Amino acid sequence: MKQGIFLTFEGNDGSGKTTVCLKIKEELEKKGYPVIYTREPGGSKIAEDIRSILLNTENTQMDSKTEALLYAASRRQHLVEKVIPALKENKIVLCDRFVDSSLAYQGYARGIGLDEVWSINQFAIDSYMPQKTFFLSVSLETGQKRMNIRGDKNRLDLETISFHLKVREGYDTLIQKYKDRIVVIDAEKDKENVFQDTLKEVMKVISQYE
Ligand code: TYD
Repeated sequence: MKQGIFLTFEGNDGSGKTTVCLKIKEELEKKGYPVIYTREPGGSKIAEDIRSILLNTENTQMDSKTEALLYAASRRQHLVEKVIPALKENKIVLCDRFVDSSLAYQGYARGIGLDEVWSINQFAIDSYMPQKTFFLSVSLETGQKRMNIRGDKNRLDLETISFHLKVREGYDTLIQKYKDRIVVIDAEKDKENVFQDTLKEVMKVISQYE
């Protein structure tokens, strides 16, 4: 690889992005690419500690801005400890959620505002933005069904249906706004098809940097 490639995966809870992301990692490794998979919030000791506060179902009193700041803090630590070093080694970084999650969940669904959440995140990420973002699109019903199969629910999974609907509206706004960066994948299809469609898009990006 001539340079590192930063790719992020986004979607509502239950969209299946983690499964797809891990399969993409496996496939890229098979093809001989240097690749890492990592996730937000977390991905390093300090960031995982922040994650446990964020996702603890007992923290029902958490203020929305506290939540946004903690996600941004976790993002900063993860970026500095994991993402930037890997990009400097010219690796492909597959990151399960990034700044768009904060824009959709905190900025839009919690109602803090996209610009406000963007500004604290700009502080957190400097100029590190993904070359491409893959949005795995599922209906709310499919997402909820998949979440129910998965079982244990975190603090955000337990939010109301109307919250998850707003998250989706938030993502739709971002898809319109960042047409060149965000690629929408139809994740209603079965796992193998979603994987193949995503892989095709990922390979398009990689071919630009080989
Ligand atoms: P996780 O268990 O990792 O869910 P998923 O597998 O769906 O990614 O939990 C992450 C939760 O945190 C998820 O509900 C989305 C939410 N989140 C935000 O609200 N803002 C953010 O900036 C990020 C990264 C995640």
